[in-house]
Amino acid sequence: MKAYIKTFGCQMNEHDTERMYDILVNLGYAHSPNETEADLIILNSCSVRDKSEHKVFSHIGSLKELKEENPNLLIGVGGCVAEQEGSQILQRMKHVDFVFGTHNIDKLEELVSNAQRGYSSTSITGFRNDFKFLSNYNYRTPKISEFITITSGCNKYCTFCIVPYVRGKEISRDFQEILNVCRELVSKGTREIHLIGQNVNSYTYQENRKKYVFADLLRAIADIDGVDRIRFTTSHPRDLTDALIDCFRTEEKLASHLHLPVQCGSNRVLKKMIRNYTKETYVEKVARLREARSDIALTSDIIVGFPTETEEEFEETLDLIREIKYYDLFSFIYSKRKGTRAAAIEETYTQAQKFNRLYRLHGIQNEITTTLHKEYEGKRFDVLVEGFSKKDDKKYEGRTSTNKVVHFFSDASLKGKTVPVRITKAQKHFLEGEVICQ
Ligand code: SAH
Ligand code: F3S
Repeated sequence: MKAYIKTFGCQMNEHDTERMYDILVNLGYAHSPNETEADLIILNSCSVRDKSEHKVFSHIGSLKELKEENPNLLIGVGGCVAEQEGSQILQRMKHVDFVFGTHNIDKLEELVSNAQRGYSSTSITGFRNDFKFLSNYNYRTPKISEFITITSGCNKYCTFCIVPYVRGKEISRDFQEILNVCRELVSKGTREIHLIGQNVNSYTYQENRKKYVFADLLRAIADIDGVDRIRFTTSHPRDLTDALIDCFRTEEKLASHLHLPVQCGSNRVLKKMIRNYTKETYVEKVARLREARSDIALTSDIIVGFPTETEEEFEETLDLIREIKYYDLFSFIYSKRKGTRAAAIEETYTQAQKFNRLYRLHGIQNEITTTLHKEYEGKRFDVLVEGFSKKDDKKYEGRTSTNKVVHFFSDASLKGKTVPVRITKAQKHFLEGEVICQ
C-alpha cells in the first residue's frame, strides 16, 4: 500500500507531514510518488489566508474523481483547515474518510485503521492538554539540515491572524527532549539544526526549579559536538531579547540569518495589529543585531492593505523596507479571517488597490534583493554542502550562513562539510560558485 501527503502552507506543516509519514510507514504504507498511485491520500491544509483555504477545498473536490475510480482509496484531511472546519468538511465533501486537527496527528494510526475497516467517516479536532511533540525520524534517512519543532501554537493573537485559533495556545517542548533529538539526528549525519515554531523565540521551558529561555536552548545545542549550524524561524520582534541578540555575538554556530516579520511600517497600523512594538523599537533592535553580527541577513513578512491603512501609512512601510534593506520579503495582501479581531474592522479598499500596493512593494524589494545579491559576486563564503542540486543534478548545492542557496561542482565526499566557495554569478534566486581548494 502506498500513501501520498499533499502539504499546504508553512514549515510547521511540512514538518508535521513528515511525522505523518513516520506513522503511516509504521502502518505498512510506502511513500507514493503521486496521488494517482496512492491507496491513501492526506491533505495537510493551511488556512492562514482565504486563498490558501480555497486551494485546499478545491483540491479536496478534485479528489472525488479518483475516489470514484477507486472506491478503496482513503482520503484524510489534516492541518489548520481541518482544525477550523472539523466535521463540516465531512458534510460538505462526502468522499473524505477522516478529518484530524493540528493537535491530533498522533490519532492518525487509529483513524486510518478504522477507515480501512470501513467505519463511518470521523473527525477528531480540539486542543489537548496531553499534546505531544512527535519525535520519530524513521521513514527516511535524516538530511544534512533538519527541522525540529520546539514550540506549538501562539499566544500573541495579532488581530489579523488565524494561527492561535487553529494551532492552540503556545506550548514549549521539553528542553532535554530537544537536545536528545539533536543528538540523535547528528549521530545519523545531520549537521544543521533548524528550530521551528510559530513564535520560536518565545520558547520557555520550566523544569523543576530551572527556567530555560530560547537563548539557553541555542547555547545548549551549540555545545553539541557534530552540530555545525543552527537556524530558527519564525521570530517575533517583541521576543528578540538582549540574551538572544547576544547569542549572535558569541555563538559562531548560529547562522547569520534572521526572519523577523515586521508586517508594516506605520505605528498606528502596528497598534491595530497588536504587534506590541513600534517602528522605532524594531529599527533599534535591528541596529543592535547588526552590531552583534555585522553580516546578518534579515528577511521579513509584510501585510499590505490592512483595513484602514492609508496611502501615507503604506508609504511608511516602503520607507522602512528601504531603510532596513531586507534580503528577501514575503509580502501578502491582507485577507480577512473569520473569528479574528481584525475581521470586525471595515475594509476600505478594492482588491485592485491592494494589488497596486503589493506591486509597488515588490518593485522596490526586487531592486534591493538584486543589489544585495550582486554584492556576493567574487566573494568567498562558507557553504554547508547539503547534496545534489534540485535544479541541476550534475551540481551540488548548499547554503551560505546567510541562507543563500549556492550551486557548484563538487563530489560526494564534501556532503555534510562546510567548505569555502567563491561566488561566480548571482542569479535571481540562487548563486553559482566554485569550491576553493584548500
Ligand atoms: N509566526 C508565524 C506567522 C504565521 S503566518 C510563522 O511561523 O511564520 C505567516 C505570515 O502570514 C505572517 O507573518 C503574516 O505576514 C501573514 N499573514 C498572517 N495572517 C494574514 C492575513 N490574515 N492576511 C494576510 N497575511 C497574513
Ligand atoms: Fe500569527 Fe502573530 Fe502568532 S502573526 S502566529 S498571531 S505572532
